[in-house]
Amino acid sequence: MSPVEFCGMTLEHPVINGSGTFDAIAARHAFGEALEQEFPFAAFVSKTITLRAREGNPSPRLWEAQAGLINSIGLPNRGLEGYLAEDLPKLAQWLPVPLLTNVMGSTAAEISELVRTCDARREIAAIELNVSCPNVQTGLDIGADPHQLEAVVRAVRPHTRKPLIVKLTPNTADVGACARAAQEGGADAVSLINTLRAMALAPRTTARRAAQLPAAAGGEVGAAERDRAAVNPAGRWLGGGTGGLSGPAIRPVALAQVAAAAACVEIPVIGMGGVQCAEHAQDLLDAGATLVAVGTESFREPLVGARIAHGLAARST
Ligand SMILES: Cc1cc2nc3c(=O)[nH]c(=O)nc-3n(C[C@H](O)[C@H](O)[C@H](O)COP(=O)(O)O)c2cc1C
Repeated sequence: MSPVEFCGMTLEHPVINGSGTFDAIAARHAFGEALEQEFPFAAFVSKTITLRAREGNPSPRLWEAQAGLINSIGLPNRGLEGYLAEDLPKLAQWLPVPLLTNVMGSTAAEISELVRTCDARREIAAIELNVSCPNVQTGLDIGADPHQLEAVVRAVRPHTRKPLIVKLTPNTADVGACARAAQEGGADAVSLINTLRAMALAPRTTARRAAQLPAAAGGEVGAAERDRAAVNPAGRWLGGGTGGLSGPAIRPVALAQVAAAAACVEIPVIGMGGVQCAEHAQDLLDAGATLVAVGTESFREPLVGARIAHGLAARST
């Protein structure tokens, strides 16, 4: 497959990772130097970094749905300082592809600080803004409202000359309007989709057992179930209450939203959502994406990105 031009970068192929779904540092430990010889992605996107360190949500954090995964990880990370001091030097030592750093904040000032600081680091090739965070003033997701989104991107834009990618939320009425708003605000590219808001209930047997267990009985498992039932009487499974659905279940939604976004903007689109093979990736490219990101499938098959890139190359010859 021929190289792809993306925001001034020449990438070897169009397959990258979805933020938060591939830990390159852990993978380097697991696979050793072999990972450098054939890194599965043409660029590496970091997990979301916030200004201050975050612990993430209480457990349980995952639920396996019929055809996907609901996660309520809650963006645990070391914070910007920790990322720059610990992760960035490690990645810069061996990462054979451009590094895209994904950041999130809940005010334009906070996001601007993240972006300004990343701009000063030559190891970072581009910045992706995760705009799924609720605005601290309005409580609404920054990325769900086109007016708010445009204002935030416009405020942040002057703080970097690096490519600025805005990662759109699918939990909005009109994703095309949001993509256009990001472009009007000065984004160099948009990426989508992030996860769809979802919820899971604890298995009924577990909830029933928890309700029936006497306080002094049941051992450790019983105590944990009782605690969960006490905190969460409605029986929600995830510690965060709700989570985000990803994987094969969201692929048709991704296809529709990528097509809608691509029809509304001139800037490049990174498409993702449920991609498991080259055919799925090709569908998103046909819908108007320039690059395709792979997320959940990497948990099952860490080197799936390479398989998909080879598959795309084979299709194009
Ligand atoms: C466990 C998990 C963690 C994620 N963490 C992040 C994150 O830190 N930042 C972000 O922008 N998206 C995050 N995402 C969303 C993915 O990058 C991607 O947009 C979404 O999962 C859809 O792609 P997929 O169906 O291929 O997984 C996460 C997804 C999963 C499953």
